[in-house]
Amino acid sequence: MIRSVVRGFGAALPKRVLTNKEMESKVDTSDEWIVQRTGIRQRHIAGEGETTASLGEKAARAALERAGLTADDLDLIIVATSTPDNTFPATAVNIQNRLGMRHGAAFDLQAVCSGFVYAVATADAYIRGGLAKRALVIGAETFSRILDWSDRTTCVLFGDGAGAIILEAQKGEGTTADRGVLTAQLRSDGMHGDKLYVDGGPSTTGTVGHLRMEGREVFKHAVGMITDVIEAAFEATGTSADDVDWLVPHQANRRIIDGSAKKLGIPNEKVVVTVDLHGNTSAASIPLALDTAASDGRIKKGDLVMLEAMGGGFTWGSVLIRW
Ligand code: ACO
Repeated sequence: MIRSVVRGFGAALPKRVLTNKEMESKVDTSDEWIVQRTGIRQRHIAGEGETTASLGEKAARAALERAGLTADDLDLIIVATSTPDNTFPATAVNIQNRLGMRHGAAFDLQAVCSGFVYAVATADAYIRGGLAKRALVIGAETFSRILDWSDRTTCVLFGDGAGAIILEAQKGEGTTADRGVLTAQLRSDGMHGDKLYVDGGPSTTGTVGHLRMEGREVFKHAVGMITDVIEAAFEATGTSADDVDWLVPHQANRRIIDGSAKKLGIPNEKVVVTVDLHGNTSAASIPLALDTAASDGRIKKGDLVMLEAMGGGFTWGSVLIRW
């Protein structure tokens, strides 16, 4: 059977780092409060000339270089983002153009913080369905541009960045020993739309709007939803928490990450955490964390890697990959 195997990975962060200490001069908050409630110590903020597309392009070029490929070798680009450069055209075609790619297909996918998990699942379906051979999957965000910088309950939580992986069609045996995506489990429930949303849009206010969140409500649902889709991935593949080499969660909040890992029985040493350095970068957080742990040698070829995310919508999902 055809599997979608990871050929390369890359990431990009804006130059500017904004520390919690600096946040204290913007809103009524403290380094101690932010660290204790979220685990975040700093985040990167896009500066002039840095956009979702420019960060995505940088991450894509790093992934191509690592894979030893060029844009000519790709036939699909999916960009997971909620902060596109423009309402349209899609950021994916913007990046396609920046890469000088004149063939194939490119589109954006919007599932907020679960965007990267949804995009990997979508690329995998295209590859297994024979619609694509090599897909560039990017998670890229500039949430700093939709934050209300006077609202301390949200502005301290988010950051900007991008990450990318390249998935390639390769033959597998159809067992969990195969390299590549082994299963994807996606869920959503629009009933929760008012708990985490942006209060503007092209068809309603004609403006971009600002992020609004009932943090406590999101927190209440997060651990249950995350563990549900991870358990579904175990069931679909006949694997268990003991088989997982690395849990690479969406980096929203240290307490959610720790709570989920504990409930699943996955020890802290197997959990990749970057929320301290990046904050919550929404769809970019998982590929940024993958790049961190694969670059420093923690995630190795053949490792079993569980990705999970939950975010606005609500949307949530998991992807199990043999690296
Ligand atoms: N600095 C200092 N005090 C603050 C701040 C701040 N930045 N923000 C809120 N507070 C105050 C509140 O006003 C409140 O004060 P009060 O008790 O006098 O009313 C107090 O701190 C406690 O507020 P809570 O909202 O109850 O704090 P909580 O412990 O729930 O932590 C947090 C808030 C961090 C937002 C938490 O609810 C959370 O992490 N929720 C999940 C959010 C999340 O992860 N979202 C992303 C997932 S989806 C996605 O990634 C898009």
